[in-house]
Amino acid sequence: MLVLIVYESIYGNTHAVAEAIGRGLGAGDEILVVPVAEASAERVSWADLIVVGGPTHAHGMTRENSRRSAREAVARPDSHLVLDPAADGPGLREWFESLGPGDGKRAAAFDTRISGPAFLTGRAASGIGSELHRRGYALVVEPESFLVDRHNELLEGEAARAESWGASLAEVLVPTA
Ligand SMILES: Cc1cc2nc3c(=O)[nH]c(=O)nc-3n(C[C@H](O)[C@H](O)[C@H](O)COP(=O)(O)O)c2cc1C
Repeated sequence: MLVLIVYESIYGNTHAVAEAIGRGLGAGDEILVVPVAEASAERVSWADLIVVGGPTHAHGMTRENSRRSAREAVARPDSHLVLDPAADGPGLREWFESLGPGDGKRAAAFDTRISGPAFLTGRAASGIGSELHRRGYALVVEPESFLVDRHNELLEGEAARAESWGASLAEVLVPTA
């Protein structure tokens, strides 16, 4: 089973969650965790499963201007935030524009967002899941959110939960006899 995990990340939370999901998927699978800029059409076509995740900005997937303001916030004197190496890269919204048809390829969606009821915070995972579905990808599980606090730091236990979610994806993919 070849698994491609595609993440968008400005502050590193979604990147960390993507790596944890990859660890959870575990041995026995060939797993590639890449930022959006490296998620080429060739890599997508190579994969048996694609797992796609990004941060929630303004209740949904990021936009060019939300990414810019997120990057600018790092430079504020009181900021503790650090830019992820992928922070300057393209967002998932732009990536979806050139994503080819899924033809039933299996997929899963996740996001990171602030802890709280999703109807208040919004969640990028819903939009990511819809985009995948619209292009003919078959979602193997419901879109999932992993939570940060108001300082944009991953809540304790969320990396472990992401690892478990990855393991549950592996179970879904086990062929039934
Ligand atoms: C510009 C901006 C807008 C945000 N808007 C929301 C939002 O509407 N809802 C939410 O739950 N979190 C929001 N957040 C918090 C991010 O979703 C959260 O910090 C996320 O983990 C960042 O992912 P990253 O570390 O991979 O960049 C926002 C963060 C930024 C910087």
